[in-house]
Amino acid sequence: WSVPQEHGGFPSTLSSRPISDDWPGYSLDLFTYPQHYYGDLEYVLIPHGIIVDRTERLAKDITQDIGDNDIVVLCVLKGGYKFCADLVEHIKNLSRNSERFISMKVDFVRLKSYHNDKSMEDMQIMGEDDLSDLRGKNVLIVEDIIGTGRTMKALLNNIEKCEPKMIKVASLLVKRTSQPDGFRPDYYGFEIPDIFVVGYALDYNEYFRDLNHICVINDQGKAKYRV
Ligand code: HPA
Ligand code: MG
Repeated sequence: WSVPQEHGGFPSTLSSRPISDDWPGYSLDLFTYPQHYYGDLEYVLIPHGIIVDRTERLAKDITQDIGDNDIVVLCVLKGGYKFCADLVEHIKNLSRNSERFISMKVDFVRLKSYHNDKSMEDMQIMGEDDLSDLRGKNVLIVEDIIGTGRTMKALLNNIEKCEPKMIKVASLLVKRTSQPDGFRPDYYGFEIPDIFVVGYALDYNEYFRDLNHICVINDQGKAKYRV
């Protein structure tokens, strides 16, 4: 797990280029998306196909790093469910087609820290009662997005209490915030500008999880689903 490279190449996140602040995204007209969100979105930041392709590469990097260790995948709900499902699927496919086989268990915690598009001070952790099962295990935490990093740091604190053997963090997205002590996950899909995004299980007040692409909402969308 701690011996990363087998035959050359760097973990793909080391050499990855961020999505820049002036990247205009893709026009919504290039793709399909649910009719009930027509008029609510600004543009597509990351199309679904690219998310899946990137996830396949992350699965490869993770598989190479894991070696012959068994892992517990800890999916952070609700936003992490799509990324986690696709990541687990890719890891399964890779391990099925190789000499090694990684035994995986999947567990879940649920966090809530956002109200509209603002991060709240108090983070709620739910479903952490059986985290004691993590003692002595190699744990891969799978998150949708790391913004300020506060949520992840709080979660890590809680999980470390269970004394796992190893903890690694995989996040589909990392936001480029002004936070100087910003948390960096071991694996991430894309570094994005400091903007609020939805889709591929990321929500705005529980809406937009049923959108395949990662998109930016417009003012109409924000107003329509504000609570
Ligand atoms: N979108 C949805 N949920 C989030 C985000 C975001 O940009 N950042 C943190 N949680
Ligand atoms: Mg959310």
